[in-house]
Amino acid sequence: MGRVRLGVNIDHVATLREARKGSYPDPIRAAKICERSGADGIVCHLREDRRHIQERDIRFLLEKIQLPLNLEMSMNEDIVRIAKRLKVPKVTLVPEQRRELTTEGGLDVFSHREKVKRLVHAFEEKRIRVSLFIDPNGKQLEASWRTGVKTVEFHTGRYANAKSLSIAQRELGLIRRYCGEAKAIGLEVAAGHGLHYQNVRAVARIREIEELNIGHAIVSYAIFVGFAEAVREMKRLLS
Ligand code: PXP
Repeated sequence: MGRVRLGVNIDHVATLREARKGSYPDPIRAAKICERSGADGIVCHLREDRRHIQERDIRFLLEKIQLPLNLEMSMNEDIVRIAKRLKVPKVTLVPEQRRELTTEGGLDVFSHREKVKRLVHAFEEKRIRVSLFIDPNGKQLEASWRTGVKTVEFHTGRYANAKSLSIAQRELGLIRRYCGEAKAIGLEVAAGHGLHYQNVRAVARIREIEELNIGHAIVSYAIFVGFAEAVREMKRLLS
């Protein structure tokens, strides 16, 4: 058993399916392989534009997969309604812009603190656990803590996409610092975005991190080595 839990984001299996609007590759099949290959959870993002995961995928994941599902979602009312109706076990609130290729930064919890707080309470009343996807900085961390949320996920994109070693090290330092602060104020700590087989170990070594959520790199590597091996290898790097 690895120390850090691995949540596998299967969005891009659905991206490939939606390229032809057909029925394969099937993200549910990918999730089943994750179950057999050491993943600790399944993650997917129901985007407002439905560019990859569809509502029916979430229904099938809930019916057919034993691993816990973590649904990434914006604060859009329709999506909130769907998450509550489907009674997903966990949601991660993320910012969302239509034209972005991927989630470009953390949620601005500070600016939307009242709305985030209301949502955190509304979900928890329905026994849906909530995590907030934030940049590693003190203002967002404190604002998150004030909403009453129990988990934060730090956005590792600036570390992962750093153009130089010194920038990567500075960004890693920020992630390390705010993981420590989050844990010290009683929050559970996760991280993710842009992590791959070459850059993940430095993040996995951060003591306070309990879970890493990784998608694009695993799906990409799976094209060459198969989904099971891609998941197993990532899991090995986390242990
Ligand atoms: N965590 C969150 C909250 C995300 O929004 C994403 C991207 O959907 C990931 C993790 C995974 O990012 P990547 O696909 O770059 O591994």
